[in-house]
Amino acid sequence: MNFEYLIRDVYQKIKNIEDKGEIASYIPELSKVDPKSFGVHISTINQVNCGIGNYNEKFSIQSIAKVLALILAYRLVGDEIWDRVGVEPSGTAFNSLVQLEADKGIPRNPFLNAGAIVVSDILISNLRNPKEDFIDFVRSISNNTSLGYSNRIAQSEKEVGYRNIALCNFIKSFGQIQNKPSDVLDFYFDLCSLEMSCKELSELFLFLANNGLRVENNEAILSESQSKRVNALMQTCGFYDESGEFAFKVGLPGKSGVGGGIIAIHPDQYAIAVWSPKLNKKGNSHKGMIFLEEFTTRSELSIF
Ligand code: DON
Repeated sequence: MNFEYLIRDVYQKIKNIEDKGEIASYIPELSKVDPKSFGVHISTINQVNCGIGNYNEKFSIQSIAKVLALILAYRLVGDEIWDRVGVEPSGTAFNSLVQLEADKGIPRNPFLNAGAIVVSDILISNLRNPKEDFIDFVRSISNNTSLGYSNRIAQSEKEVGYRNIALCNFIKSFGQIQNKPSDVLDFYFDLCSLEMSCKELSELFLFLANNGLRVENNEAILSESQSKRVNALMQTCGFYDESGEFAFKVGLPGKSGVGGGIIAIHPDQYAIAVWSPKLNKKGNSHKGMIFLEEFTTRSELSIF
């Protein structure tokens, strides 16, 4: 498969389509990005690396960071994590509160804001210096010391994070948050402010296409079973109430963020990252979804 040719060809086709999405503006600083930005980068387990467009520009990865938080928490507490957070698609928006009342503060899955807030609580309980230790972990698994948080984005979200503040307090009222809500929320907002380029994202996430092992040196970031489970969650829950649509059209495990990024994994083949900031009504990159649908259709490779 000539991925380099395919990426370039699909990029040229999708680049100029009408972008019907809207930039996320509920976090004021996110709306300052150039809406025309469009980048793609693929990393394969056969060590092919290629990108096009704004693939080297860092952007706010937002909810994509929830996968990294889950991975670190899974490493630290193992299967106990599933006592605190479920593994079911919710069919609701990423920031919804509605199911928590009936579910007594156990979020349906770790990729909802509610789920990632609980994962943040688990990390705070298990790390000495959560903010520093988390970024050290992300840098170590990617061998990339340039990765970091954006204080500007985190601060902007802290000032308007009313729904997340409500979610955290609501979960706490069921006894399902162990630490101070303000500490949990600070960590959650920092986590979401991580910045990466498409190149950095696809390189970092490639281990999920390689049974949990880093391709360069076979170091295990997750066990084979854990890696499969993270991919299963990305497949079923990675796009909130659009997860079925993404599975139907793209057919890969993936995760989106309101910064307009998407990471998708083809097990045993590649990790691909797309960035286009305008979002559809479900909060997922409009052009990013279309690019990936065309890319997987044209590559004729499928996990199904
Ligand atoms: O908590 C929030 O609303 C954001 N920091 C993250 C949401 C997000 O990225 C949802 N993904 N599509």
